[in-house]
Amino acid sequence: MSRVAYVNGRYVPFAEARVHIEDRGYQLGDGVYEVCEIRDGAFVDERRHLDRLGRSLSALRIEMPMPLSSLRYVLRETVRRNRVTDGLLYLQVTRGVARRDHGFPETPVKPALVVTVRALDRKKIAASARAGISVITLPDDRWGRVDIKTIGLLPNVLARQAAKDAGAKDAWFADEEGLITEGASSNAWIVTREGVLLTRPSSNRILTGITLTVIKEVAASLQIKVEERAFTVAEAKAAAEAFLSSATQTVMPVVAIDGIPIGSGEPGPVTLRLREAFHRQAEIGPRIV
Ligand code: PDD
Repeated sequence: MSRVAYVNGRYVPFAEARVHIEDRGYQLGDGVYEVCEIRDGAFVDERRHLDRLGRSLSALRIEMPMPLSSLRYVLRETVRRNRVTDGLLYLQVTRGVARRDHGFPETPVKPALVVTVRALDRKKIAASARAGISVITLPDDRWGRVDIKTIGLLPNVLARQAAKDAGAKDAWFADEEGLITEGASSNAWIVTREGVLLTRPSSNRILTGITLTVIKEVAASLQIKVEERAFTVAEAKAAAEAFLSSATQTVMPVVAIDGIPIGSGEPGPVTLRLREAFHRQAEIGPRIV
């Protein structure tokens, strides 16, 4: 089955999908995106992802590219045409195409919309979760509004590469005070030796994950205590368990930070319970494929 992308009003073969060279996303990183999990042929938490898309767009004063109901149709249709039952939907909205100038285009242009879908190997991710992953910590050198899900991800790109170069899977950022902010494309969590789940409260220093929001509900349903407070790199290294959360990985155990084993050095029981219960709490939409 060949892949299809949605690009500005048309479904096109993936290999032929193109945007204009003066798309402001391409030249200026002037746009936002969302990544939504597709599981068993249905969207996971679509409503929350689209709500966040709306918030990101209004923060940048970009219009929704089309009414919400049409957008939801396009997302479904892209999944349907790709016949992906387990994977990811990527959607990107930029301010549109205009002559390069930092200020917003003087004559309004239509926001540009691109949607792609990709299959994920669930078995591979499950194997990764059974083993757990390692992360390194790095100074958080991103801009001050990472609560907006913008496509400007250069520090995240460099952090992920630094992790790879160091033989680790991912990177966690730490602020000036040594407090973990979040991962390069995920939120960061620890379980203290007292069994309390810690994650950093929402602010402009983190992207509030949809997965994070659902995990808080999962924890409540499992009667696991959650405290929203920032924790230091040292606290993380001394924790009983650690994990990261994102739409692509849901709950992914972290078993080493900067080469220091966390807890037993294996995925922890609280982490695994949260992972196992996650999709019972998430909003699963109607089956598309
Ligand atoms: N990233 N923090 C950052 C910096 C992220 O890029 C992401 C997600 C998250 C978690 O958000 P959510 O739970 O809504 O996926 C936190 C996506 C998956 C990506 O860039 O591929």
